[in-house]
Amino acid sequence: MQEINKLEKIDIKTLIKARRSVRSYLTADTHPVSDYEIEEMIDAARFAPSASNAQPWYFIIIKNQELIKKIAIVCKEKIEKIFSNNNSNNCSNNNTSNKDILNLNLKDYIKNFYFFKDAPYLAIFAEKKGGNAFLKILIRELEQIEHEQVENKQIKNENLLRGLMNSDTISVSMAMQNFCLMAYSQGIGTCIMTGPTLANDEISKLVNLKNDYQILALSPFGKIENFNLNLSSKVSAKRRDINKILQIIK
Ligand SMILES: Cc1cc2nc3c(=O)[nH]c(=O)nc-3n(C[C@H](O)[C@H](O)[C@H](O)COP(=O)(O)O)c2cc1C
Repeated sequence: MQEINKLEKIDIKTLIKARRSVRSYLTADTHPVSDYEIEEMIDAARFAPSASNAQPWYFIIIKNQELIKKIAIVCKEKIEKIFSNNNSNNCSNNNTSNKDILNLNLKDYIKNFYFFKDAPYLAIFAEKKGGNAFLKILIRELEQIEHEQVENKQIKNENLLRGLMNSDTISVSMAMQNFCLMAYSQGIGTCIMTGPTLANDEISKLVNLKNDYQILALSPFGKIENFNLNLSSKVSAKRRDINKILQIIK
């Protein structure tokens, strides 16, 4: 029998405001996330808008505990290696302000790169490399114009290409948000993470990622203890005041 789609009962604004990044999950043994629930999350993700409707995304869902642990460990090793080098460089440079910041916050901060080692599930969000065909042509043409502008000593507009070049990343990001919201509507916590992408090469090998894709972000996920949409909205993460981030032009 098909499970009931819980989202039908939740209004969209409550869901958007209630969603939080969740970093601890119930185990798969006692509280499994069903294939149906996972498919609902991916279904929501694939209905995100994408530039030229290229749908430049690919999703890998890992249920294998050993593999999740291995991925977390490569992330831990990578971040620790980077910062141990950085620490010794800073010591030799006598760069006290940087050193203080590192010593104060680093140990806690870097846990955010690999806290998911015991997570029951892990999602990998990948983006197709190289852009879609239409954007590729457009970008090539614009690069030519930019080149001519530079040749003619006109002012180079560095922003001209940026929006287009980011189109696929933006598209996958929108899919990721749909994934997180659909998860939350089913009592499933997620935490989008870009920290682990420092170990992209290692992770790509571990999951046999297709060559024409690159990892954009990960998200561990799992059922949330005592899940209650109304309660979770009260533990709201701080947000900037609307007046500080909004300009209306009449
Ligand atoms: C692009 C992106 C990257 C993030 N990377 C990490 C990460 O590497 N580790 C982590 O613990 N949280 C990560 N987060 C989660 C943020 O810390 C979180 O969204 C933010 O603090 C706001 O809290 P909320 O999601 O509960 O509203 C990331 C979020 C986004 C959108």
